[in-house]
Amino acid sequence: MTVLQSRKSIATVFSLTFLAQGPMQIGSYILANKVVAAPMAGVSDKPYRKVCRAHGAGLVVSEMVTSRSDLRHSTKTKFRLDLAGEPEPVVVQLVGTDPAMLASAAQFNVENGAQIIDINMGCPAKKVCKKAAGSALLANETLVDEILKAVVSAVNVPVTLKIRTGTSPATRNAVTIAKIAEDSGVQALTIHGRTRECKFAGAVEYDTIARVKHAVNIPITANGDVDSPEKALAVMQGTNADAIMIGRAAQGQPWLFKQVADYLATGAYHPIPAAQVRANTIIEHVRSIHEFYGEGLGIRLARKHIKWYLNHWSLAISPDLKTQISTTEDAQLQRQLLKDFLLGSLNLRAA
Ligand SMILES: Cc1cc2nc3c(=O)[nH]c(=O)nc-3n(C[C@H](O)[C@H](O)[C@H](O)COP(=O)(O)O)c2cc1C
Repeated sequence: MTVLQSRKSIATVFSLTFLAQGPMQIGSYILANKVVAAPMAGVSDKPYRKVCRAHGAGLVVSEMVTSRSDLRHSTKTKFRLDLAGEPEPVVVQLVGTDPAMLASAAQFNVENGAQIIDINMGCPAKKVCKKAAGSALLANETLVDEILKAVVSAVNVPVTLKIRTGTSPATRNAVTIAKIAEDSGVQALTIHGRTRECKFAGAVEYDTIARVKHAVNIPITANGDVDSPEKALAVMQGTNADAIMIGRAAQGQPWLFKQVADYLATGAYHPIPAAQVRANTIIEHVRSIHEFYGEGLGIRLARKHIKWYLNHWSLAISPDLKTQISTTEDAQLQRQLLKDFLLGSLNLRAA
């Protein structure tokens, strides 16, 4: 048996184990697979979520949405609240500190189309933690309990929670928080296996995720540094998690979701889509960013996605053209330059 064959048969054995566990389910929603696209403020907007779904994410989560009702008409929140036409289950993530405000925001978002409410207790950003929201909440277990109970009793849709493993390595309390969540009626939990203090540095503590999985009966999604089908399999195996969440690794290569989902389900590699499909995906993604935000804002927000796509796809692009695509203030020109480059360099048919 070759190394490749034995790797594949090991993967197949694990895949069969996962299949035996059954599909990932949140409330009455049975997910198509075990791969979730991470909430990422400034990234997982409506156009990005559409691309992730199209390329195999079994669940996508909105960018975090503030619980403050006075900000609902701000430009940023208005875009985040646009859920029109999204397929179920529509997950909206809320961020805040006050139980009553979060409960009322949950009700508002359910009326606005949310079918699952996720609470953010994982964000380490200074701007968020300064207000004692996001992962800063993990330091106050009583408040966590109050928030979760308030939100769960305010809505008749599943409430889920996203956490880190604690606020610092000295105060890791993910297992306690998970038990509070389960007792409060939270129906699924995602854990980014780092503390707030660790931000994005250092190794992910998959062992802590495994301890949480062992301690509670609600479905657990493992998150942190998953960037390949093999890594996903190893993390699923090492944590016994019910699903895997992918954030940064899918930027510029959303087809990773399907690759990972197929590998977990069958132990086989799904080839990435043909060059023409990838080129069309990129062109359509940029077009939909321009359409969703309007060309002025859209052109700026498209830049980082274009950069990620080009970085992942090592096509020889001249520095001048790269600069022109990322600095032009003309949305139509941005689309045209990108399209000409991608289709031209691949010698493809226009979409
Ligand atoms: C740009 C960016 C924005 C993020 N925004 C959010 C957010 O709004 N809500 C949240 O729960 N986590 C947020 N995260 C954390 C991710 O959901 C995820 O937990 C983290 O990136 C680790 O996963 P990864 O290693 O697969 O990227 C963000 C991460 C990044 C890189």
